[in-house]
Amino acid sequence: MPKDFLWGGAVAAHQVEGAYNVDGKGVSIADVMTAGGNGIPRQITDGIIPGENYPNHEAIDFYHHYKEDIQLFKEMGLKVFRTSINWTRIFPNGDEEEPNEAGLKFYDDLFSELRKNDIEPLVTLSHFEMPYHLAKHYGGFKNLQVIDFFVHYAETVMKRYQDKVTYWLTFNEINNQADGQHDLHTWTNSGFIPQPGENKEEVTMQASLNELIASAKVVALGHAINPNFKIGCMMAYVPIYPYSANPDDVMAASKLMERRFFYNDIHARGEIPAYALARFERLGYHLEYTAADLAALKKGTVDFISFSYYMSDAVTTLPEIAGHDVSSEYPGAKIVSNPYVKASDWGWQIDPVGLRYVLNTVYQRYNLPLFIVENGFGAYDKFSADGKIHDTYRIDYLRSHIEEMKKAVLLDGVDLLGYTPWGIIDIVSFGSGEMEKRYGMIYVDKDNQGHGTLKRQKKASFDWYQQVIATNGENLDD
Ligand code: BG6
Repeated sequence: MPKDFLWGGAVAAHQVEGAYNVDGKGVSIADVMTAGGNGIPRQITDGIIPGENYPNHEAIDFYHHYKEDIQLFKEMGLKVFRTSINWTRIFPNGDEEEPNEAGLKFYDDLFSELRKNDIEPLVTLSHFEMPYHLAKHYGGFKNLQVIDFFVHYAETVMKRYQDKVTYWLTFNEINNQADGQHDLHTWTNSGFIPQPGENKEEVTMQASLNELIASAKVVALGHAINPNFKIGCMMAYVPIYPYSANPDDVMAASKLMERRFFYNDIHARGEIPAYALARFERLGYHLEYTAADLAALKKGTVDFISFSYYMSDAVTTLPEIAGHDVSSEYPGAKIVSNPYVKASDWGWQIDPVGLRYVLNTVYQRYNLPLFIVENGFGAYDKFSADGKIHDTYRIDYLRSHIEEMKKAVLLDGVDLLGYTPWGIIDIVSFGSGEMEKRYGMIYVDKDNQGHGTLKRQKKASFDWYQQVIATNGENLDD
């Protein structure tokens, strides 16, 4: 891989830190999400209810273990570590004027510790961690005031850490909410749950636009604070393939991809795309934005595009195939299983070639540097008789994706800044709230019920990834 390629690892604050009410931290939208399970949705409760299991409250207690964890990251050879700032450590309710100094100090220490160990921080400003107060009392990003609160928060941390952090991301997987499958996504992306009587898509689009405007304002502000900043967006790229060569399937796939491109188009081109304006008009949506907002979008385009990649999807219009109805996007369209790929225990379809496909498609569309900031395999890990976890399935997953990533860079000419596999250390799953859906190369002794010593232990994938980084991606053997 290119000489300066940033091999790394990724997590998010709410999935690792714990210490949810320590040193002045306020309650976030993640702190009111209960544990679910494989196929069991997490519940969003009305505040913190005594007796409920909230896995993010302790998580893996990275807040008190980060020095020890950074030593392991260093040993692995990480050049970059992606985490987020827990907004509620800085502004506990979100609408305060003055930040919480104890929260600011925590990230000062964390980023210094990373730098001391030659690890570049890559920082997401908002990874499903909005203050609960803003969700409950303002309606999250449906409310225009929340744009200003976010900009104030971003300005505070960008000024504070301007000499320690160069790479920033605004909103994690901002496009999840457009899939509209469950309310968890509007909650975690935008801090609201659609109410009966509301047009779910219309309110989600309004909140999304508000968020995109907030993001653009922060990009422009960040560049003014420090012209060396590299500020990116963060997309969830699940490519949608046509299930068959039937032209309707091909067209349906193209229309469905607009759900993802809408966000990326605005982030990268600074304009609301024509297909979206046509759709809003056709459906009679009245979205509010001003000429000043449009100018802000234009001014705040991103420096690079980051994304997560885990799996691919397929769509068909063929009547004989059953699937999840998406006919609102294209007549007769359904999301269906792809018979050419296998799936994980959680039903995520494993498709390494899809990563090369995404890298090519996105690079061709925007011609901006890319960064893979999440990719990984959630699995049940078991100890072998020798007391180790031999996670060959995880190594196989990562190896096959790195092979396709290399093709995109070396054969296809894609400009790729780096690769940070997800959950480099075991963390609380976002979707299910489980600890036992493990992504890590470092095991953390904790189970779904919250029991365990929190002891860290290297898995076989740790040694494997160490070698991958040491050989700059040359040796992928285990
Ligand atoms: C992405 C999120 O959706 O995928 C992460 O950015 C999340 O926060 C990751 O953890 C994997 O999803 P899950 O549900 O397996 O944790």
